[in-house]
Order: sequence, then structure tokens, then C-alpha cells
Amino acid sequence: MRAIVVREFGGRPEATDMPTPEAGPGTLKIELEAAGVNPFDKRIIDGFLDGKLPHDFPLIPGVDGAGRVVAMGAGVNDFEIGDRVVGKFLIPPVGHGTFAEFIVVPRESTLAKVPDEITSIQAAALPTAGLTALDLIKSAAVTSAQHVLIVGAAGGVGSFLVQLAALAGAHVIATARPDDTDRMIRLGATEVVDYGRITVTDSPTHPEDSQLSVADSVRTSSPGGVDVLFDLVSPPTVFSGNASLVKTGGTALSTIGSADEADLKARGIKGGNFESTGGATELRELLRHVGNGDLVVPIDNTPPLEAAPDVIGASGARGKTVLVI
Ligand SMILES: NC(=O)c1ccc[n+]([C@@H]2O[C@H](COP(=O)([O-])OP(=O)(O)OC[C@H]3O[C@@H](n4cnc5c(N)ncnc54)[C@H](OP(=O)(O)O)[C@@H]3O)[C@@H](O)[C@H]2O)c1
Repeated sequence: MRAIVVREFGGRPEATDMPTPEAGPGTLKIELEAAGVNPFDKRIIDGFLDGKLPHDFPLIPGVDGAGRVVAMGAGVNDFEIGDRVVGKFLIPPVGHGTFAEFIVVPRESTLAKVPDEITSIQAAALPTAGLTALDLIKSAAVTSAQHVLIVGAAGGVGSFLVQLAALAGAHVIATARPDDTDRMIRLGATEVVDYGRITVTDSPTHPEDSQLSVADSVRTSSPGGVDVLFDLVSPPTVFSGNASLVKTGGTALSTIGSADEADLKARGIKGGNFESTGGATELRELLRHVGNGDLVVPIDNTPPLEAAPDVIGASGARGKTVLVI
């Protein structure tokens, strides 16, 4: 089968032929049609899980995928050949991922049937980013009229999170680059804060026009503070500044381990460092949201599988990149 592989930790992904896996007892073989790309793919390639989980090389990366069931082993009763399915697969040994034509996954994986009205490309964009966004909303118990600050709103998780927070009725403050302001508003943001620096390239006297920090901008527009901070990108010092906006009794969550949990607790703020735990039940909930039109799948880019080396670990996400297989 065609697949993307790396041959060592930190290696450059390359397209190659790999043996096609076959279904055994309790597993399904899926012919993949689309695979969502996440920052985590690059971290796996770079050895983030080395020493924590066994790995097989050449290693096929990719956690999110959608396609059709083409074979099943004994003991799988709730799927049929031909079913369209989507899932989030991180199955040890790591290295048999979704950036390939076929994958074999245990029945108890995070796996759900895809309704007819949702394309495989849309479905493949959902698992990691969508589940993380849904888990964050549930973890913070976002309710109507709360002020919710989302730092890193333009990417995969953020583009779902803005919508889910707006769906809960929150006043959503999203940080994004100026060229993405309209898209953030369409997704449901109430306010958009520019986190970048505006470069004035045609001015000899002002080559760069620096701006207020996100925390200073939000302090100006929301002097009473925010109820919830979802920070998807900031390092610890910046996270701490953003968390200073959160009201006592509010919630601050970092998806990249930047929270000083003892400090938050001392300030009467809930939350801390967050890990997504959503499974098949939450994936079906997301699919229902998409099916009934509450949630738009924010697809940025749909390159072919062979273009994976160019998009794995790329910056500048505006929603999701999904490889078409
Ligand atoms: N803990 C968990 O369970 C969990 C689950 C999923 C994801 N994550 C992590 O959460 C992070 C976000 O994931 P993702 O899938 O949304 O990533 P993504 O699709 O790459 O999006 C990140 C977005 O943040 C923007 N950004 C970068 N620096 C920024 C800054 N200083 N301020 C505001 N925005 C900034 C990027 O745009 P520019 O590049 O143009 O700046 C990009 O649009 C990743 O580090 C990922 O590994 C953790």
C-alpha cells in the first residue's frame, strides 16, 4: 500500500510502499479516504512518545482518519463491510497510523460510523481537534454570557472551540491574525484580538508597528476580566499573563502544559494543564453537531497523501489540513 513513513525519530517523512495490514480477531481493516493532520503527528515523529510506548519503524504517522470498512476479524459485530467510519487511532506499537491507504484498528478504538451527509474529508478533520475542543468546553462547563478568551483560535482546535463556545452562548474573544478576523467572526467570535505585530513594509520610519500584548488588549476591552481562558499556544510566562485576566472562580486551561497549577489554585482559579480524553461517545456527539449544522468543519487545505512531508509540522494553520488518500 502507499504510505508516508519516517525511518527514525526526527526523520523526514517520505512516500513509499508498505505491506498492507490484515484484520485479525477483534479488529477492523479500514481503507482510508482521508487523514487529518495534527501538531501531535510531528511530535510523535520527533520522539515525544519514545520510552513511553513501543514504536515500529518504518513508522507510519497519523492519528486521525476516515474511510470504509473492508474486512473484519472474528468478534466484531457492530460494523459491516462498506460502513464509512472515522476514528482517532494511537495504537501501540506506534507506527501503523493513518497516513496510508489501509489501517487495522481494534474494535474498541475511538471509532464511529460517519452519517451520509458528512464527507470523509470532513470526518477526518474531526477527531483530535474536535474532541479536544469539545472536552475543553465540557471541562470548563462554559455557559451562556460568560466571557471566554481563546488564545490560538485560528488553528484546528481553536476553529472548533470558537464555534462550540459560541454555541454555548458565550461572549467569545478569539486571538487571530488580522487576515483571519472575518473567518473568526463567521465561526462565532464576538471580538478578535490580533496577536501578531503589524509589519509596515512600505514605511522607512516605522518598519514595524508593535502592538499591545493579548492580555493588555483584553484587559482594555473586558475590564472585568474573563470567566474562562482556553490557551492553546502560549508558553508558561505568556500563559500566566493571560491567566491574570481570569476572574476568581473562573477557569484557565492550557493544552500545551504551560499552566502553573499551584499558582492558579492559590488565585482561586480552576483548571490547569489539560489532556483530551474524549472517545467514541464524544466523537458521535461531534458528528451529530456537524450533521445538524451546528458545527462547521473548518477545512483549510486538502493536499494529496504524497504531500504529507510538506504539511506535517507546518505552521500557519487556518483550520484543518486533511490529506486525501
Ligand atoms: N493536550 C491535549 O490534549 C491536546 C490536544 C490537541 C492539541 N493539543 C495541542 O494544542 C495546540 C493547538 O493545536 P491545534 O491542532 O489547534 O494546532 P494548529 O492547528 O497548528 O493551530 C495553532 C494555531 O495557533 C496560531 N498561533 C501560533 N502562535 C500563536 C500565538 N502566539 N497567539 C495566537 N495564535 C497563535 C497558529 O497560527 P500562526 O502559525 O499563523 O501563528 C495556528 O493557527 C498544539 O500545540 C497541540 O499539540 C493538545
